[in-house]
Amino acid sequence: MFHRILLQLATVGCLLTPLTLAAQDASNVRSRSMDQLWGDRVVKLRAENADRGQLFDEGNYAMFIHWGLYSQLGNKVDGKTYYGIGEWIMHKNMARIPIDRYKELAGTFNPVDFDADEIASIAKDAGMKYIVITAKHHDGFAMYHSKACDFNIVDATPWNKDPMKELARACRDAGLCFGFYYSHNQDWTFPGGGGGPGKDENGNRATFDDYFEKKCLPQVREITTEYGPIEIVWFDTPGRIPKHYVEKLVEVVHENQPHAMVSGRAGHGLGDYQTLGDMEVPRHNIEGMWESVDTTNDSWAYAWYDEYWKSPREILKRLLACVGRGGTYMLNIGPKGDGTVPQRAARTLRTAGEWIRRYPQVVYAADASPWQHALPWGDVTRRGNTLSLCVFDWPTSGELYLPNLKTEIVSASLLNGSESTPLETSRENDTVVISVPARAPEKLVSVIELKLAGEPEVDPTWAIDPNIETTLLAEFAEVKNAKKEEKRWMEKYGEWKGVVHAFDWNDDSSASWTVDVLQPGDYNVELTYSGEGRLVWEVAIEGGETIRNQQNSSHNYQQFPIGWINFPAVGRYTIKVNCLDGERETASLKAVHFAPAF
Ligand code: GLC
Repeated sequence: MFHRILLQLATVGCLLTPLTLAAQDASNVRSRSMDQLWGDRVVKLRAENADRGQLFDEGNYAMFIHWGLYSQLGNKVDGKTYYGIGEWIMHKNMARIPIDRYKELAGTFNPVDFDADEIASIAKDAGMKYIVITAKHHDGFAMYHSKACDFNIVDATPWNKDPMKELARACRDAGLCFGFYYSHNQDWTFPGGGGGPGKDENGNRATFDDYFEKKCLPQVREITTEYGPIEIVWFDTPGRIPKHYVEKLVEVVHENQPHAMVSGRAGHGLGDYQTLGDMEVPRHNIEGMWESVDTTNDSWAYAWYDEYWKSPREILKRLLACVGRGGTYMLNIGPKGDGTVPQRAARTLRTAGEWIRRYPQVVYAADASPWQHALPWGDVTRRGNTLSLCVFDWPTSGELYLPNLKTEIVSASLLNGSESTPLETSRENDTVVISVPARAPEKLVSVIELKLAGEPEVDPTWAIDPNIETTLLAEFAEVKNAKKEEKRWMEKYGEWKGVVHAFDWNDDSSASWTVDVLQPGDYNVELTYSGEGRLVWEVAIEGGETIRNQQNSSHNYQQFPIGWINFPAVGRYTIKVNCLDGERETASLKAVHFAPAF
């Protein structure tokens, strides 16, 4: 509902008359939710960008760094803690810090423990191929020596050094590529900037054009000419910035750095690749060049309380999901005000990095899974006619099921770093059964390498795994007489979650999936949904058994048992789910799960 209102607001926006445009200059971000500020997502094919893109061909994994004046506060102001993404601490949606007071923070910013080589070595050990760091965020403070504006780390702080010079050098020394994040539209402290003051220090009206000509354009020139080769310029939150400003910035980047890529959040589809929403890891393959940007905990910038770190296993799961869906993964750290990296962030990155060093072929220069989505036990990446099966949930039954692979298998082997052990495979039509040892060789993710006789030919139809739980997302369902939509929300401020859900049911509604059953028998069925009060759900196998149950619901998505259902034989089935009773309008189905009952 809230979303729909925002959408309507945005649509009205384009009807504004030239007269009111002036007043809007500095506020083209005010009435919009953060995700609407991210701009349109446009598919960018590799072929369209012959000169740029090598970074994504081979890289696939990188470090994002949010570091600035806000890191000094770590989400605490006057003893009060604010929960959410720390780089927004100044904003009215967080601590609402007045501009002058915020600018005073520069006077105490003194990151004496900043160590560019240490940061580069964390990225290197983590298996990352490049670093993108905040040169200027929405707050307007430049984390490099800018001549265009003295609100910068050299001129305004007691530390009086340019960390970007050091980090650019440290990246080169470590063999890493380097890039800058630059918030081109928002500037909360510079007159005329997006979300910034509408008047300058003399009380004169300031326009976005003023901000653009006096600060934004000169600074983009600075960061693309004074730090050596740059591989990425990461613009953000374009909002409704007029197109000609973006065209100018992209032109300057490509002129000064012919091989540099401009992020998908430049605006007007003018980036060189697509940038997904914050913390979004896609569940189906996406074509073209794209990146997912994610956090090691729940905030981009350092937040003193946030110890909710992703485990090495979770990091690998999200990284391999991104590679398996055809994209790249940029994972963020938020150094503290003293310049140091939270130890737990460094440790979890390094531990995941140790695994990547044992299986580089699974990540680097690897392409998307021909299954186009994850599989119950894990995910797949591909290099030519070789598939890497990344098994997170090891089948203790000793049999791993790979559905709908039509291509002949030349060999299957279980990897243990660079060692490999041949594995037996058998086939039942297009289902491949791989005999595996009872114990997984790896603690985090085990890899089975399949060499094929040719291009992998796969039918991406979902299959119900006979060993472990299979989750069918509403995202992959065909929905009739009900609604299916993507929705996003923020748990803490700026901590984005998203789901494609089916809702607003009636007697004729159905969410249905075509699935292959690899082994007949009874399966325990559960549903993940949110809603209000008790709900009655029905799960039916077309032409087969139908079961129903009433369970409670809550505002949060939860998994509820429905009951056992029987698949009488191996084969292809259609499964239908409907909500029969209760608050059906808000009954929001996220997924159906099948697990062998015995
Ligand atoms: C959003 C946030 C911004 C953050 C960026 C990272 O645009 O507004 O603070 O830097 O996402 O992707």
